[in-house]
Amino acid sequence: MRAVLYVSVLTTLAGMARFDAGAGGQRSSPVAAERTAPAVPIPYSEARPIVERLAASLPPELAARPASELESMWADWVSRRNREIRARLERGDEDSIVNLLLFGTTFTRLPRALNDSSRVGGRERTAEIVRGRTADLIAGIAAPGGNERLQFARQVVARRGIDPATPGGREQARTYFVELLARVADEVDSYAREIQTVRSKPNGPEFAVRSSLYRARGLSSDTSIRPDFAIDRALETLASMGMLAAGSVRRVAVIGPGLDFTDKAEGYDFYSPQTTQPFSVIDSSRRLGVAKTDDLRLTTFDLSPRVNVHLQAARRRASAGEPNVVVLPRNREGRWRPDLIAFWRTFGSRIGEPTTGSLSPPDGVDLRAVLIRPEVVSSIDARDLNIVLERLAPLVDEERFDLIIATNILVYYSVFEQSLALANVASMLRPGGFLLSNNVLVELPTTPVHAIGDNRVIYSDRPDDSDDIVWYRRQ
Ligand SMILES: C[S@@+](CC[C@H](N)C(=O)[O-])C[C@H]1O[C@@H](n2cnc3c(N)ncnc32)[C@H](O)[C@@H]1O
Repeated sequence: MRAVLYVSVLTTLAGMARFDAGAGGQRSSPVAAERTAPAVPIPYSEARPIVERLAASLPPELAARPASELESMWADWVSRRNREIRARLERGDEDSIVNLLLFGTTFTRLPRALNDSSRVGGRERTAEIVRGRTADLIAGIAAPGGNERLQFARQVVARRGIDPATPGGREQARTYFVELLARVADEVDSYAREIQTVRSKPNGPEFAVRSSLYRARGLSSDTSIRPDFAIDRALETLASMGMLAAGSVRRVAVIGPGLDFTDKAEGYDFYSPQTTQPFSVIDSSRRLGVAKTDDLRLTTFDLSPRVNVHLQAARRRASAGEPNVVVLPRNREGRWRPDLIAFWRTFGSRIGEPTTGSLSPPDGVDLRAVLIRPEVVSSIDARDLNIVLERLAPLVDEERFDLIIATNILVYYSVFEQSLALANVASMLRPGGFLLSNNVLVELPTTPVHAIGDNRVIYSDRPDDSDDIVWYRRQ
């Protein structure tokens, strides 16, 4: 997704946060694997052509060594880098807490700190709201009750040795949040500058720059209906062009399905954290006829324990006959395009039943909630896998994927790491299978996956609220 979403509010806050500032990987519990293929590291034989072609942009530890030594150090480098990448989850968790602080509605009566500070009464008023929200969030995490997000925020704070139940701990938590706001504001500001710089050049490679924009950022899990819609549009286009035949999609993988905690676009927290992309892809594939109704299996690959545990728990409940609820809020002021609204209205109609439940959305928010049928939830296999450095292997032909989805995940990596990821994807795709991503990737002749087209999806009338989905095809 384009990277502009809350520049304004964070820029406003940056000054306040800096002024105010007074004052740190977990690995998932093993994911129940129903299939036998294990996650294995990318072998050096497959990495070698990438290392050779991208010699000028290797990570420093590899660049510092002579080419003759790289093979012998490869396994060690992969396992060290795997730990380093997974350690980035902690910073992503902090980013999610910042979104909760700014946009959540369950722990405060204060207005949301909207992207457009003029809509909340100007910069001073925004700063005041954020100070109040910080105090309310701290009070919330001191007594989180059954609120899963507050419980999680408390864990994040506890990692820093802070106990929000004590007055001293609350002050430490305030200082910590102020620092987080400043850090996130600085990062968002630097992304905006990077985009601005490339935009100011004639024919600047904006899509390429955007595609690796978060290469040093914490790995966050946030997600929303937007990329689900973009993938739906891509599948529809591929089907209408005859590139995806009726009933041809049997095995699908979603890389980085995410967990909707408090995303920075709509950012609500009045329902339980949830994942939507795997359900959306199954729903779209069935509706568009590219998958046969009873013949679709979906695998998710994620390195976040929170995401994997969430999906596994849903699956366990499904085996006991319980459906899974997906809640889709729509802020009426979001200026969504009619086709996104139409998608929202029908989301899940092929895999579940609409429900109203007991949720009470905030004013101005319309709700669609769907009870996803247990057999659909049971068709999802959640695997712990770092796509940059790992793949499932060995795979027999019928285990290879017809379709792999990767939205808002490869943007967190450098071109070298993206190229390793693409080699891992290629190894798991069947010939003729597709990878759909909203990132443009460097295509090396030695990796048998190449872009054959793309589609643009505009979500709303807000500037830059759009995505380009690139269709990569395995030779
Ligand atoms: C920002 S969320 C995107 C969620 C969803 N795909 C979307 O487009 O809204 C990124 C997801 O990718 C996962 N992720 C990040 N790096 C990954 C990696 N190297 N391998 C597998 N999953 C990864 C994160 O844990 C998170 O679930």
